[in-house]
Amino acid sequence: MKNLIVANWKMNPVSQEEAKNLFNDIKQRIESATAEVVICPPFVYLPVLKGLTLGAQNCFYEDKGTFTGKISAPMLKDIGVEYVIIGHSEIRKMGETDEKINKRIKSALRAGLKPILCVGENYEQKEKGETETVLKNQLAGALSGVKDAENLTVAYEPVWAISGGDPYKTKELPTAEKVGKTHSYIRNLLADMYSKEFADNIRIIYGGSSNAGNAEDYLKNGKVQGFLVGGASLKPDDFSKIVKLAE
Ligand code: PGA
Repeated sequence: MKNLIVANWKMNPVSQEEAKNLFNDIKQRIESATAEVVICPPFVYLPVLKGLTLGAQNCFYEDKGTFTGKISAPMLKDIGVEYVIIGHSEIRKMGETDEKINKRIKSALRAGLKPILCVGENYEQKEKGETETVLKNQLAGALSGVKDAENLTVAYEPVWAISGGDPYKTKELPTAEKVGKTHSYIRNLLADMYSKEFADNIRIIYGGSSNAGNAEDYLKNGKVQGFLVGGASLKPDDFSKIVKLAE
């Protein structure tokens, strides 16, 4: 299985021209990369960015209808999008529920999109020693009744490690060893929910201030299978270095 590097541009950049420049800069730098790379720009840029695999940052859970402002999984599939991030902590913070995340996963799979399910504890939960319970509940909630989830990726993102824009400014990050243990815990949960064979074939990636300086440690000592990169994905030099390290 190839490692998977996902660029989560969040709500950046603010113009189509900048988006194209950023995209093309990244594209040139990773031309010969053997790791799998997915770029997740804001929805409006998806149709104009060509030449790398695309992902959306969310999708609605109904296919069509009277849902003002929403974008469905079949619409994304139709314009060539392959992946979709679901359950990102920044959306959970705005009131997202496990129930809705579950519906989004189902609609993504129905449409033939590959969901990247984000799970992770916040600072308070970490301090209280609740990380495993949180992960267990998030996975059980998101995957309740979900069959045929071979195309799933799980992104473990400790909320307290997410950069807020500058991946080099965070004061505290989980050690690679800790991330490795948490990934094993997630894989065991998946094995309990599905089967060992299923769990062994699911990629579990890490997100939270990953950058060109710490990626190697997470890969080597945490055995992560890739990254969900926020801040550093807006810096082509950094992002391409992460991609190269993940080959
Ligand atoms: P970060 O963001 O790399 O800037 O911490 C990761 C994410 O939120 O997906």
